[in-house]
Amino acid sequence: MSKAKDSEKQKQVAVKVEALLKKMSLEEKVGQLNQVGGAAFSPGPAAEDQIRKGGAGSVLWLNDTKKFNELQKIAMEESPSGIPLLFALDVIHGYRTIFPVPLAMAASWDPNVPEKTQTIAAKEARAAGLHWTFGPMLDICRDPRWGRIVEGAGEDPYLGSAMAAAQVRGFQGDDLSDSERVLACAKHFAGYGYSDGGRDYDPVYLSEAQLRNIVLPPFKAAADAGVATFMSAYMDLNDVPATGNRWLLRQVLREEWGFDGFLVSDAFAVGNMVIQHHAKDKREAALRGLKAGMNMDMSSYTYTENAAQLVADGALTEAEIDELVRPILTIKFKMGLFEKPYVDETLLEKVIALPEHRTASRWAAQRSMVLLRNEGGLLPLSKDIKKVSVIGPVADSMQATEGSWMVFGHTPAAVTVLEGIRAKLPNAEVTYASGPEIRRDIPSWFESLMAGQERKPEQTPAESESAFQSALEVAKAADQVIMVLGETDVMAGEAASRASLDLPGRQEELLKAVSALGKPVVLVLLNGRPLSINWAAENVPAILEAWEPGTEGGNAVADILFGDANPGGKLPVTFPRKGSHAPLYYARNMTHSPEGSPMYNPRYWDGLPVPLYPFGFGLSYTTFEFSNLKVSAEKIKVGASLTVTVDVTNTGKVAGDEVAQLYIHQQYGTDTRPIRELKGFERITLQPGEKKTVTFSLGANELTYWSSNAGKWIQDPASFDLWAGSDSQASLHAEFEVTS
Ligand code: BGC
Repeated sequence: MSKAKDSEKQKQVAVKVEALLKKMSLEEKVGQLNQVGGAAFSPGPAAEDQIRKGGAGSVLWLNDTKKFNELQKIAMEESPSGIPLLFALDVIHGYRTIFPVPLAMAASWDPNVPEKTQTIAAKEARAAGLHWTFGPMLDICRDPRWGRIVEGAGEDPYLGSAMAAAQVRGFQGDDLSDSERVLACAKHFAGYGYSDGGRDYDPVYLSEAQLRNIVLPPFKAAADAGVATFMSAYMDLNDVPATGNRWLLRQVLREEWGFDGFLVSDAFAVGNMVIQHHAKDKREAALRGLKAGMNMDMSSYTYTENAAQLVADGALTEAEIDELVRPILTIKFKMGLFEKPYVDETLLEKVIALPEHRTASRWAAQRSMVLLRNEGGLLPLSKDIKKVSVIGPVADSMQATEGSWMVFGHTPAAVTVLEGIRAKLPNAEVTYASGPEIRRDIPSWFESLMAGQERKPEQTPAESESAFQSALEVAKAADQVIMVLGETDVMAGEAASRASLDLPGRQEELLKAVSALGKPVVLVLLNGRPLSINWAAENVPAILEAWEPGTEGGNAVADILFGDANPGGKLPVTFPRKGSHAPLYYARNMTHSPEGSPMYNPRYWDGLPVPLYPFGFGLSYTTFEFSNLKVSAEKIKVGASLTVTVDVTNTGKVAGDEVAQLYIHQQYGTDTRPIRELKGFERITLQPGEKKTVTFSLGANELTYWSSNAGKWIQDPASFDLWAGSDSQASLHAEFEVTS
């Protein structure tokens, strides 16, 4: 749409919003700020009753196309002003066709992956009648003990920002009236990935510099990409719940970034301000939320119970309520919901049958996987192999293959790794044993919400031992063993933090016992967070990090293991050697006692806290060489830009993908800056012997930072190192200087 047409349309929408606001009662306005829970566990009166009296702006936790139309009909025909509802649900990595979890998609280092998959997720979700997803999740996380690391893009703000913008483009497109897209929601604003000790929901303490330099950039990228909504985080940020944090919601988001969409709280989070010992009672919680600019209350009914009275008491004006309702109505008009409120109930079946959805799922999974080890070129395996055994508790688990965060009511339907291998090797004998079960020591409340997750009675020690021995027997009879180990879907995600990063249960013991048989062993990992697989990293010749790869996950694993696809993913997060080493990340600051200095002191005396695998790491079936790193200018002035070029050559025998990564280091300045910071990347495909020159640009955007010392954004005149290569430990080096 042209700019002039766009602004004309905006004006027309604004006129409609004002006209509608004029005829709405205060109760109806407050109703627009209320999001009704449509699930059995939701509190509050029946959804129908709330909608009928104009008491609901949106409904969540409902996944039922027919019911959407029924509720919408009540809203349109029976509520006082006939305002359509927004149906919302967490569609995090696929609606019916499931894609790799977001952490995995970040490992593709290819923004096309999340953009394309979220476009499909949006199309399926919209066909089901949904208007709004609670994604993308943009929490930078440097502590893999935190279970929700699986939902984000890992530890780095630069990579995270690229993935954020791509997901917004995928979900939302560039026009809210597009009937194949859904509204996106940037969450959880902000800092949730930094909870104390990685414990979910625990308080977060972050300096303004950490917030602005590390945590907020992906949110800013989402805002710049036009994201329509934001969701606040649950926890206290520097002692103020994010949901009532005026600085964050008003000053940063609205005033500095110019965000004009609307905010929703996390589930029950407005009311939770009482539980968190922040607000005296629900009345005060409502006041704090409303004053902070939190538009929509997700299902705690704190606004519906208190807002009108707050206006009557003079604690709040009706104009302040109008200000919060306005962006919600604006978005409903922009989406065209007043004209087209209903969904065609036959559409979903047609949309989910589209073959390109499964093709995209397989492609995304292949591109997300990371080859961690391949001693002696064990991989790819030959398809002529006769006897393969596939072993491990997640080898044939559809839930573990699809991963955490399924939409409500979803029935798992993934191709497991076992099935993928069987399909790839129709003439081989493929045997299978699960080995001992794995389970959380403490179950999750969320397990009770998921289909097919009835908790079976725990294996007795005798049953576990018998499963262990059967797995060994199965392995003994094979020519090649493929161990599929990791975590189940409920071991990462919300309320799924853990203190250790070891393989849960007896998996490592089984891996050691199988390896002792002397057969060639390949380890495939299915998991939603870094795992400290120290023993495997030294002793298992080939390791593929497959993450939680989605509907086509098993086929994608088989494609890689048997050479139909060449892995090119890279780690979006550091793998520590122990859970207690977290947070461990590459972009740390230099200390007074660096390694190699005469008075160097190891940081712990019981094991060096160095990464098992560094950020950005990943192998391929071919090899690459980086050379000829050049800067277009050795000196530039503050505010000016320079170009960096580097040649990448495929020095191996097969075609493959490499991710060229650019890191900088400001050598001194107003504040101490990290020893390395990612400032550019590009995933490229190279034929054997082929060379490409990759070009990056460095300018004010990349060199400016929020300074603690100056209390503002600054760009220092200083000397800079830069490195280009295949991971965060790249050694090809150059320098440049920024002068005043
Ligand atoms: C989660 C959010 C989610 C919301 C709605 C909360 O428990 O923290 O990420 O969007 O529920 O389901």
